[in-house]
Amino acid sequence: MKTTGNTILITGGTSGLGLGLAQRFAAADNKVIVAGRRAELLRDIEASNPGITGLELDVADPTSIAEAFTKVTASDPELNVVITMAGIMQPEDLHSAGFLETAEKTITTNLLGTIRTIAAFTEFLQTKPDATIMTVTSGLAYTPLALTPTYNATKAAVASFTDILRLQLADTSVEVLELVPPAVATTLLGQDQDDSGRAMPVDEFLDEVMSILTERPDEKQVMVERVKPLRYSEANGNYDQVMQTLAGSH
Ligand SMILES: NC(=O)c1ccc[n+]([C@@H]2O[C@H](COP(=O)([O-])OP(=O)(O)OC[C@H]3O[C@@H](n4cnc5c(N)ncnc54)[C@H](OP(=O)(O)O)[C@@H]3O)[C@@H](O)[C@H]2O)c1
Repeated sequence: MKTTGNTILITGGTSGLGLGLAQRFAAADNKVIVAGRRAELLRDIEASNPGITGLELDVADPTSIAEAFTKVTASDPELNVVITMAGIMQPEDLHSAGFLETAEKTITTNLLGTIRTIAAFTEFLQTKPDATIMTVTSGLAYTPLALTPTYNATKAAVASFTDILRLQLADTSVEVLELVPPAVATTLLGQDQDDSGRAMPVDEFLDEVMSILTERPDEKQVMVERVKPLRYSEANGNYDQVMQTLAGSH
């Protein structure tokens, strides 16, 4: 994707990686709209970040997605990039059925939320000469973490969906990218409170992502070096070992 002169919508842009990426893109001469459920936070972000505007959106609610689409395409008809960052990550214990509520919420937000957002915006984006959809998966899509089974499964599903989205849209102006983060120190699962060094500092992650986008524009999967042991464990022949190590570290 080109890294300047875009109008970019980031769902899940109110905190963590989404907000960080929004600030990097705004600083690189892009117009950025961040979307999320926390209305007050959206107002604070607008006040303290010139060049970024806020949009209320709950990706778990199809009506909210439809309303957000109508609003943003009216206020920003030049919109040409959508980044589906919104996501949740919660622990589950599969020994009893109590995990099911978390599982359903996770699927509704991470998987259905992503697919519904893409469904809402794809036709519109095809009218733009230079458009991008960037999905957000995880290293855990490729080597799962024992603590968060449904989270891992939603990210694996989004990765698979993304591959076929790219294939089907190859005859359009829409480029399809997958951002594959490693553990990064955000509040997603309390990684920001973990001083073991397992989680990558947010700024370091964003620096590396922006340099990949700028210097290697042909990469379809945007991967910092730290995610590669998870991404390629199967190919490296150590999937079980990496999965066991991950399980032991949480
Ligand atoms: N940090 C990591 O280690 C890591 C690793 C791999 C992948 N990721 C992925 O990166 C993405 C961002 O995570 P993060 O680490 O930046 O965590 P975060 O700070 O908790 O950000 C999550 C974002 O998702 C939004 N969100 C959650 N549910 C939503 C909903 N129903 N509708 C709209 N927005 C919703 C939140 O906004 P509101 O609360 O305002 O709605 C927030 O902006 C997620 O998809 C996550 O799976 C993170």
